[in-house]
Amino acid sequence: MPILSMRFLPDPILRRQARKIGKVPANMKKFTDDMIETMRDELGVGLAANQIGSLQKVAVIQLPDWEEAIVLINPEIVSREGEREVVEGCLSIPGYRGLVKRSVSVRARAIGLDGKVIRIKADGLLAQALEHETGHLQGSLYIDHLVTPDDLWKIPQGGEEEEEEEESDDNAASGSGADEHTHEVGEQTE
Ligand code: NI
Repeated sequence: MPILSMRFLPDPILRRQARKIGKVPANMKKFTDDMIETMRDELGVGLAANQIGSLQKVAVIQLPDWEEAIVLINPEIVSREGEREVVEGCLSIPGYRGLVKRSVSVRARAIGLDGKVIRIKADGLLAQALEHETGHLQGSLYIDHLVTPDDLWKIPQGGEEEEEEEESDDNAASGSGADEHTHEVGEQTE
């Protein structure tokens, strides 16, 4: 399965709205297998199609403790509850992290590769990933949700890049900017 080439800010496709998929096309399995492969190669927990140059409304998510990825076609957040602040990054914005406002829990709806409806009730990292990836598909990025404009910081070159945030505290130990956010980094560990 080929690794697809990533799109990075300021590529305008990251600001485009994805197109809803009607009947799931036969080649979707191959396409999403490649997305999953690319996400794993990039050490991400999620990837939206516009990040690899497609405007199909599809995202894949695989949390660190999952054995399989999920494919979400036409994913939508149906409802959100609560508000929290979490540290986040994005494969399309390498070298940065930010402190963002996210929901405590969400309900999401999507369609699977088999065309059946998937309903997800999530909190923690999965809720964050769902908000992040559905955001991508609307042309939104995590930097649009910073707690304050100053809550974006550089991480050292050569540091690990991950979609969403890290599970461990390795980003807390990195650059000076990150140190100020140690508390939030700790909080987000689910
Ligand atoms: Ni992202």
